[in-house]
Amino acid sequence: MHKNFNILIESSIKAKKSAYAPFSGFRVGAALLTKSNKIYTGCNIEISSLSLTLCAERVAFAKAISEGEKRFTAIAISTNRNKIFYPCGACLQFMAEFSINLKVILIKNKKDIKIFNLKNLLPKKFNL
Ligand code: THU
Repeated sequence: MHKNFNILIESSIKAKKSAYAPFSGFRVGAALLTKSNKIYTGCNIEISSLSLTLCAERVAFAKAISEGEKRFTAIAISTNRNKIFYPCGACLQFMAEFSINLKVILIKNKKDIKIFNLKNLLPKKFNL
């Protein structure tokens, strides 16, 4: 495994602590690694008008992109459940805009992780 992935995994677990999830109780943390080796984190943010909710992955991407980043290596995603969860379809499309070869690290717990290439999770992305 890439040497930075352990730090990325720890960062996503830490980012989950900021999750604002009063409606679902499902807390998500994401940590996004740039090609230049910086980490941007995100958490889910739930709004009482539920469709306004932001997923952790897109929050991490928005933070990074708004700081001028465009090239990414990997994203680690953790939740407060002891199970692997796959990113939602909207996040797959959002992430694929920037790096279809992104490594997606899904964390059940520190000892049990799965790594996918984004293009295998979203084999056909929408393209304009
Ligand atoms: N959620 C994420 O943060 N990422 C995903 O990929 C799927 C879902 C959040 C949104 C909402 O706050 C909660 O999980 C339940 O859907």
